[in-house]
Amino acid sequence: MLSWSNSIRGRLSRWLAIQTLVSVGLICTAVYLAISSNFATRQTELLAEKQRAIQHLATESASKNSAESLQHQLLDFFHGHPELSLVLQTSNVTKTFGKRPPNAKASMFRQHTFMLPEYGLSTGPIQAQLSMDITSDLRFLRRLALALFICAILGAALASLGAAWLVRRALTPIDALSSQVAKLSPERLGERLEAKDPAAEISPLITQFNALFERIEGAYAQMEEFNANLAHELRTPLATLIGETELALSSKRYERSLEEMLASNLEDFHRMERVISDILLLARADGGTRIKTEPTNSIAITIREVMDYHEAQAEEADVKLLLVGDASAMISRTLFQRAVSNLLSNAIRHADMLSDVLIVVETTGEEVQIAVCNLGTPVAQEHLVRCFERFVRLPAGRVSSDQDHFGLGLAIVAAIARMHGGKTFARSVDRLVTMGFTVARPIH
Ligand SMILES: Nc1ncnc2c1ncn2[C@@H]1O[C@H](COP(=O)(O)OP(=O)(O)OP(=O)(O)O)[C@@H](O)[C@H]1O
Ligand SMILES: [Mg+2]
Repeated sequence: MLSWSNSIRGRLSRWLAIQTLVSVGLICTAVYLAISSNFATRQTELLAEKQRAIQHLATESASKNSAESLQHQLLDFFHGHPELSLVLQTSNVTKTFGKRPPNAKASMFRQHTFMLPEYGLSTGPIQAQLSMDITSDLRFLRRLALALFICAILGAALASLGAAWLVRRALTPIDALSSQVAKLSPERLGERLEAKDPAAEISPLITQFNALFERIEGAYAQMEEFNANLAHELRTPLATLIGETELALSSKRYERSLEEMLASNLEDFHRMERVISDILLLARADGGTRIKTEPTNSIAITIREVMDYHEAQAEEADVKLLLVGDASAMISRTLFQRAVSNLLSNAIRHADMLSDVLIVVETTGEEVQIAVCNLGTPVAQEHLVRCFERFVRLPAGRVSSDQDHFGLGLAIVAAIARMHGGKTFARSVDRLVTMGFTVARPIH
């Protein structure tokens, strides 16, 4: 089950909600501050204007020295302005004009204090405190703040829901693809992912997945073929062994023929052992087993040992073994000799009688090349590209494919080349057949 907190939808929704809340919050705060500062300026200006009017009245009254006239005028003045009030204070008298609630908080008023000239009422300076009730402005600002706050929260919620919906829509093809992948199984390896009008970001994913499935299908088919071949190769000697043993048990046999049977069985056991050890070597190469290589100054010496080993086979086939060139390389001696031996054994088997089998060692750039050439029946191009695969037996020329050869020799050469950081090659020009492999050169 997809967790909301971990999903792209959840993350994007949360992130957009926070981002909208912050940005809309900032805008709302700026709007609120601008409006409240505008209110404050307007209130200050109004108070200053009223202050000037009161001072004017007081100056006029002072010139006439008429306290009654000032009081009268002030009463008139405050009659039309219920939000304003004025407190006049001298050393002995306090007079209030306009209404001011008895327990009103100071924060609900904006006040200006100033001095008025003396007039009939007083003997000293008069301190005037003009107050303006700003409760309605404060109420308006409170409502505005609440409205802006709700807008910011609603905006964030809407952005978050919108993002969740959009991501859900955008990810629908991925859900469809994942259910397609879930349906794939070894029996349905031929199926490929499909999406109707996929987004540009998803198309490469589908292509890559389909390419991967293609490779898996190929590898699976190869593995199945390999298993079938392996079963076939082991079944033949086993059937012989079982048949012979059953016959031996059912009939009275002389010691000598039992000996012959055991000797023939031993051959079959050896044959099976060879297949199994060849397959083990290939499996190890496939598993990426690291081999121990050692610097070898003259691989010609290592190759000569293999040539000596095949001397008898060469004599029997009436061919001469020759070696040209030398090089130094980092090799695992036993594996390298095994690869050369497999190539040499093939070349001797397929060489024309009284011809030469030539081994050429060459250094080319970053690698050392070992080529084994023989004159014999040409190998067709389509067979050349397949000959390094496992259990491959090419249509033989003069050589009849016998049960001692399983078609693993060149596959082992390829595995050994890979283990040495090299590759294989095969050419057939007229009657000259060349097969070989390369190994990486030592890094100095
Ligand atoms: N020099 C060559 N000329 C012609 N055909 C060759 C040559 N070398 C190999 N081949 C053919 O390539 C195929 C694969 O060779 P590979 O060595 O893998 O198998 P094999 O020799 O049949 O069996 P194994 O090596 O397991 O005993 C065989 O059919 C073989 O006949
Ligand atoms: Mg071979």
